[in-house]
Amino acid sequence: MGVVVGALALASVLFSPHAATAGPGASLSSAVLASASAPNHRAALSLGRTLFDENCSSCHGVSAQGSALGPNLRGLGAGTVDLWVSSGWMPLANPAIQPIRKPALFDRAQTTSIAQYVASLAPGGLPIPKVDLAGANSAEGFSVFALNCAPCHTVTGAGDALADGLSAPSLHGVTATQVAEAVRTGPGNMPRFSTFTISPTQLTDVVDYVTKHIEHPSSPGGLSLGGVGPVAEGFVGLFVGVGVCVLIALWIGDRNEREDTDGHGDAHSPPGGEPPSGSEPEVAHA
Ligand code: HEC
Ligand code: HEC
Repeated sequence: MGVVVGALALASVLFSPHAATAGPGASLSSAVLASASAPNHRAALSLGRTLFDENCSSCHGVSAQGSALGPNLRGLGAGTVDLWVSSGWMPLANPAIQPIRKPALFDRAQTTSIAQYVASLAPGGLPIPKVDLAGANSAEGFSVFALNCAPCHTVTGAGDALADGLSAPSLHGVTATQVAEAVRTGPGNMPRFSTFTISPTQLTDVVDYVTKHIEHPSSPGGLSLGGVGPVAEGFVGLFVGVGVCVLIALWIGDRNEREDTDGHGDAHSPPGGEPPSGSEPEVAHA
C-alpha cells in the first residue's frame, strides 16, 4: 500500500503544475486542432439528438444538465464527448465503476453527431481535433511520451495500475484523434496538458509516436524504447531509475514507521514474539 501511495504522491508532485496551468483557453489555441465540420450539420445534430435521448439522457439528463447518475456535460465541447464515446467508455452500464475501454457502440458518423449535438447545447470546450501527422518527429514524440505519459501508461504503453483500483489503460490501438483529445481534455484521472506543457508541435510528435510506434512495435523482443537513440533511452533509464529509488525509499520509510509503532506496544506482541524479520533486533525485553 505504501508503494501505491508513494507512486500516487510522486505522480501528483510531478503533474500538479501541469493541471494548474491548463486554462480553458490554452487548450483551444493548438494549431493542430481544428473543428471537424460535418457535411450536413443540421442532419447530424438531429441524429445526435435522437441518439443522445435514447442512450445518454437517462443519466446525463434530457439537456445534458446532469443528474444523480451522471455529470453535467454542458460546455464540455465535442472533443471530450467524442473521446468518451469513441473509446467505448460511454454509455456506461454501471455508474459506480471506472469506465473501461470496450467496443464503441456507435460508428464514426453517429459518434461525431452525438458529440456535435452535446457541444451545440452550450458554448465552451474543445472541438474534435484534426491531427495532421505530416512532418511529425517521432523521436521527439518519444521524449515527450517518456517524460509526460510513461509514468502512468508505462514506457511501452501497456498501461498500469494506479491507486484505488484505478488504472491507466493500454494505449495499443488508440487513434490519433483519441490521443489528441485525451492529452488536451484529461479524461478521468489523467491530467490535462495545456499548450504550455505540451506545445502543438510536441502534441503532433507524441501522437505520431503513440499511434505508429506503440501500435506497431518495429523491433520484436527486448525493450527497445522505440530505438530513438542513446540520449532519449538513457534519459528513460534515469527517470525510471530515480522513480524506483524514490518508491523504495518511501516503502522503507513506511515499514519503519509501522515497526516503531509495534515496538511501543509490548502488551500487544505475542509471548516470545520475534522481531519482524529484516529489522535490527531491538532490546525491548527487560
Ligand atoms: C448509466 C449512466 C450513464 C449513461 C447511460 C451514460 N453516461 Fe456518460 N457518464 C456517466 C458517469 C457516472 C460519468 C462519470 C464517469 C467518471 O468520471 O468516471 C460519465 C461521464 C461522461 C463524460 C465525461 C464527463 C466529464 O466531465 O469529463 C462524457 C463526455 C459522457 N459521460 C458522455 C456520455 C454520452 C455521450 C452518453 C451516451 C452515448 C453517456 N455518457 C451515457 C454515466 C452515464
Ligand atoms: C497520472 C496518470 C496519467 C498520465 C500522466 C497520462 N495519462 Fe493518459 N490516461 C490515464 C488514465 C487514468 C486514463 C483513463 C481515463 C479514465 O479514467 O477514464 C487515461 C487515458 C488515456 C487515453 C485514452 C485511452 C483509451 O482507451 O481510449 C489516451 C489516448 C491517453 N491516456 C494518452 C496519454 C498521453 C499521450 C499522455 C502523455 C502526454 C498521458 N496519457 C498521460 C492516466 C494518465
